[in-house]
Amino acid sequence: MKKLINAEILDNKCVAGDIYRLIVKADMDGKPGQFIQVRLPSNEFTLRRPFGIAALKDGQVTMFYRVVGHGTEYLTNVKVGTEINLLGALGNGFSLSEGKVLLVGGGLGLAPLIFAASELESVDVLIGGKNAEEANLWQSEFEPLVDKLFIATDDGSAGVHGFVTELLPDVLRTNKYDAILTCGPEIMMRRVAALAKESNISCQVSLEKRMGCGLGACLSCSIDTINGRRKICKDGPVFAAEEVFYAQN
Ligand code: FES
Repeated sequence: MKKLINAEILDNKCVAGDIYRLIVKADMDGKPGQFIQVRLPSNEFTLRRPFGIAALKDGQVTMFYRVVGHGTEYLTNVKVGTEINLLGALGNGFSLSEGKVLLVGGGLGLAPLIFAASELESVDVLIGGKNAEEANLWQSEFEPLVDKLFIATDDGSAGVHGFVTELLPDVLRTNKYDAILTCGPEIMMRRVAALAKESNISCQVSLEKRMGCGLGACLSCSIDTINGRRKICKDGPVFAAEEVFYAQN
């Protein structure tokens, strides 16, 4: 059931570099991997923006966003107490399996994985961040929820110097997983999917694309898959890796 909700902003502040945490009061149902189409509170911005759900509990929804353009810049100045309109939760979400799960995320892609971690029994996370400041943010969010935490940063200021995909082969050699869930830059997810396949581990990827309606009507988010054209907003954003990355695997 898709719901339009007017949600009061409870917190909206910078938590690392150009990353902000937005907490709103909203009674919403949803599962990890689903997203919300957020309408900014100004007529200047007519298109909604898709935000991953990092937490959904006690009548509050937590989201993270990076300042990347005029709209998100505007959002940084929206005050606590303002109402914003949300459409959601949308999309299919992750299939959460039993057994040991590894989450692999890069940058803002880690946000929906926090929600996944909170619902999984046995879970580790591999965090990819630009630098120590971003890695520390994600570390503090995941630490209470996971067993083991592995970190890679682009500049080497925390954890292993490099991308998560350089650290992943070692993590897979020394630990045993039943499933991998990944969200982040597509190039990273393609590599994660390939390594998962080599190790015979099932892998789900959460795709991102500029969206119009978010409801399956405008086709702006269509992609080619082994099952024909699919819409990221409605058929996804979560897909089995082999369904969407077949050419590389
Ligand atoms: Fe309109 Fe997906 S955003 S069909």
